[in-house]
Amino acid sequence: MSLLELDRVTVRYGGVTAVDSVGFAIEPGTLVGLIGPNGAGKTTMIDAITGMVRSSGDIRLNGESIASWPAYRRSRAGIVRTFQSLELFMELTVRENLQTYARVHAGGPQADPVAYALERMEVGWTADRYPSELTTGTARLVSVARALAAGPRLLLLDEPAAGLDAGESQRFGAKLRRLVDDGTTTVLLVDHDVDLIMNVCDVIQVLDFGKKIASGTPAAVRENPEVARAYLGTGGTTRNPAGGEA
Ligand SMILES: Nc1ncnc2c1ncn2[C@@H]1O[C@H](COP(=O)(O)OP(=O)(O)OP(=O)(O)O)[C@@H](O)[C@H]1O
Ligand SMILES: [Mg+2]
Repeated sequence: MSLLELDRVTVRYGGVTAVDSVGFAIEPGTLVGLIGPNGAGKTTMIDAITGMVRSSGDIRLNGESIASWPAYRRSRAGIVRTFQSLELFMELTVRENLQTYARVHAGGPQADPVAYALERMEVGWTADRYPSELTTGTARLVSVARALAAGPRLLLLDEPAAGLDAGESQRFGAKLRRLVDDGTTTVLLVDHDVDLIMNVCDVIQVLDFGKKIASGTPAAVRENPEVARAYLGTGGTTRNPAGGEA
């Protein structure tokens, strides 16, 4: 059975259809990429899965519809996200940031979820620092660690590699791959770092103007002419001049 099934999921903001009848499944133990140009609806898709925005269509977790569940119930069921804008608590140390998530989701499999999450993202050295003391790259790893501290079954990552250099991104990809391969969690990864996406994902879903335009293995998606036209061939992020990497 799929871990998550999206069935004609649609999100409208006034006249804008940010996500337009999108369907795909996430199999347990896989790393699924979600890509597309600025404004394609990637963040809105994460908002819909986590219950942070109202959507129509159906969303099923292990076969059970969660579409009517409030956000807190979805997070308790193990659906945990990061934010494109990080949203770390600036007045709290890194350890305290992780503790806020670990406490909410107490009872996970790890005896010490904070230590475990710090170790998995290799950011234990930041535990007593404040987010303002960290580089963007390290802060992004901390935001992933904070989500991991919640013991997610499904981890939704919104541009975790933005601001990482090529080497950092590659090491991050290896960490993510290990989390999935050792059964810690299943991952939906949104990012504009095409090398990262192509290197670590099992399957990639492609959105454009809210619609799913392609899906498949990295090799299949790379060779898809529609994807090249909409995204890869244009350098990926150039459509929205006001956009940019948040
Ligand atoms: N709160 C909102 N109110 C109105 N429109 C919104 C809102 N959030 C997003 N949108 C619109 O919905 C569409 C999808 O936006 P979304 O942020 O999901 O795209 P994205 O794929 O995450 O883009 P990016 O790569 O720039 O992060 C865009 O047209 C955006 O302007
Ligand atoms: Mg986004």
